[in-house]
Amino acid sequence: MTIHEPGLAELIQRNAERITFTTEMDELLAGARLLFVCVDTPPTYSGDADLSRVRAVVEELPVDSDHVLIMKSTVPAGTGDSIRRDMPGLSYVSCPEFLKEGTAVADFQNPDRVVVGSDPGDEQAAAAVEALYRPLGGEILHTDVSSAEMIKLASNAFLATKISFINEIANVCEEVGADVGEVARGMGLDERIGSSFLRAGIGYGGSCFPKDVTALKMLAGNSGYHFQLLNSVIEVNELQKRRVVGKLGAHLGSLLGKRVALLGLAFKPDTDDMREASSLVLAARLQGEGAEVVAYDPVARERASELLGSVEMADSALAALDGADAAVLVTEWREFAELDWSEAAARMARPLLVDGRNFLDPVALRAAGFEYEGIGKKQEIGAPS
Ligand code: UDX
Repeated sequence: MTIHEPGLAELIQRNAERITFTTEMDELLAGARLLFVCVDTPPTYSGDADLSRVRAVVEELPVDSDHVLIMKSTVPAGTGDSIRRDMPGLSYVSCPEFLKEGTAVADFQNPDRVVVGSDPGDEQAAAAVEALYRPLGGEILHTDVSSAEMIKLASNAFLATKISFINEIANVCEEVGADVGEVARGMGLDERIGSSFLRAGIGYGGSCFPKDVTALKMLAGNSGYHFQLLNSVIEVNELQKRRVVGKLGAHLGSLLGKRVALLGLAFKPDTDDMREASSLVLAARLQGEGAEVVAYDPVARERASELLGSVEMADSALAALDGADAAVLVTEWREFAELDWSEAAARMARPLLVDGRNFLDPVALRAAGFEYEGIGKKQEIGAPS
């Protein structure tokens, strides 16, 4: 399986002589002191994090003074305590990862902070992890293991909260005739708020936010605390994906038999990751309304085809737009900004575009002949194109 991550293949190639791959545990243990556990922790049916892969790896590791287990996987607070209870004498450090897909290499090489969580007795192990990361820069924060685990979950939940918040503001902006882009810019200038993660759109997806917000909610619930705010964050995100259907309906009436083109399928640009992508829910909802869905994504096509069997996959954006009654920009791939939109308008049965990421220039799109609808902008229903 190949992973689409800009710069990753080049990084591995540049360091090829210093990287050894093995499937033999003995070989690994003989050559390394710091053992990073980096397996995924997908959600279980209950919404808790599935720790079976973490457990499978940890059970193979030795308890000795030569090795340190460093937990990179995102695990619920309390996991480190439980592993250390099961394996007394194990040197254990929690060092959560905060990189983003699409910019993973740059994020890893320039961390804004490195969290090193350890408990009494593991000071040397924590110092070894700090020494490894120090050359990368960024503030190094030492905490206990449980706090380090919580920092990761709380950070993702907070960023998701910011997105759901601005999406609700966007929905109110549509009601009152304000522009969420202007509102976010004005809010972001307040350094207490900050400008990042205030891009309104059709909701967050990916391998982390949906899973980690639910995992934190469940962790709280399992510990006896009802995390009310996160329920709303999740619900707003679910509804946000569906609002696009209403926007199309306001222009087209019934969607039965209408051909709708989805531009972009991956959960964000510069990745082929389809996990929890908004496109999955949107495509299903459109098909539920009887629409015929055609889609194009520059890199996620293969993965998307496995999940969206009944969606027609086009070879280019223009091919997807051919004869379509409407288009939805789902993922803000750069090539969509460079598309010949006049040509696109000419090819469509009705040049109507819902820009689910507020990515394109409304003035240019309208000049090209489009009825353009963004998220959190004044409604244009009925306006001449
Ligand atoms: C996220 C965290 O940012 C990262 O720190 C953590 O290690 C893993 O999870 P990632 O999922 O790769 O990273 O992508 P991110 O850029 O955070 O975007 C997540 C989702 O939020 C995407 O669907 C994106 O489109 C959406 N998003 C992001 C918005 O809708 N608005 C924003 O302002 C920012």
